[in-house]
Amino acid sequence: MIRVAVSGAAGRMGQTVCDAVEGAEDLELAGRADPALDVALDGVLGEADVVVDFTTPDTALENAKACLAAGVHVVLGTTGFDLDELREAVEAPDGANCFVAPNFAIGAVLLMEASQRIAKHMPECEIVELHHDRKLDAPSGTAKRTADLIREAGGNVHEPIHSVRLPGLVAHQEVVFGGEGQTLSLRHDSIDRSSFMPGVLLAVRRVADLPDRLTVGLERLL
Ligand SMILES: NC(=O)c1ccc[n+]([C@@H]2O[C@H](COP(=O)([O-])OP(=O)(O)OC[C@H]3O[C@@H](n4cnc5c(N)ncnc54)[C@H](O)[C@@H]3O)[C@@H](O)[C@H]2O)c1
Repeated sequence: MIRVAVSGAAGRMGQTVCDAVEGAEDLELAGRADPALDVALDGVLGEADVVVDFTTPDTALENAKACLAAGVHVVLGTTGFDLDELREAVEAPDGANCFVAPNFAIGAVLLMEASQRIAKHMPECEIVELHHDRKLDAPSGTAKRTADLIREAGGNVHEPIHSVRLPGLVAHQEVVFGGEGQTLSLRHDSIDRSSFMPGVLLAVRRVADLPDRLTVGLERLL
């Protein structure tokens, strides 16, 4: 049994993660931390092998540092924080691992991989990301990661990345490539937060055994 505590447990993603952990035979829900539940992260760390964090851009980094300092592995789904600061924190000598993914949905990861392949042949592109209207960061972590990967593959992502925020949306992204006399559009839609759960549970099961202290991107586990 892997004991899992959820940070941000009262939030939209946190509640979905709690349900997914409770539904998995090899995982035990060891704690729910959230100021909305009056439970601090410190209060659940002693019970956990892994913490899953879906909180806010301004708290995720401190939460991850607290987990690492306590020797508890952390799976970080929160977006909008500075990854370089996390890299520095992970270099501290004690032993826990950190896994970060801006998007845990397999379809979004496949969109990023396909975008890299397309960019080699049709480098000019634009990204449109669309999310629910209570999302705090813009552009999304997924869009920034997609742009980085396309640029690594030789593509030219036009600025700015377009961010749409509307009620009714969950998490959606389109990459439009333009070439001579043609365009090619890729689109991924997370229509329900359950889309992220297989990826989150995979990371929970694998994080302790990862070779590096910090691993970024679900594609690294596939
Ligand atoms: N990686 C992915 O696949 C993925 C998918 C969806 C959302 N996200 C990201 O997950 C994050 C959470 O999204 P959401 O829609 O669930 O937000 P939300 O606002 O519904 O939930 C955030 C929760 O965090 C809690 N919180 C705030 N400070 C805290 C702290 N110090 N310790 C513990 N909990 C704290 C809040 O009370 C709230 O309940 C966002 O950054 C979002 O972009 C990532």
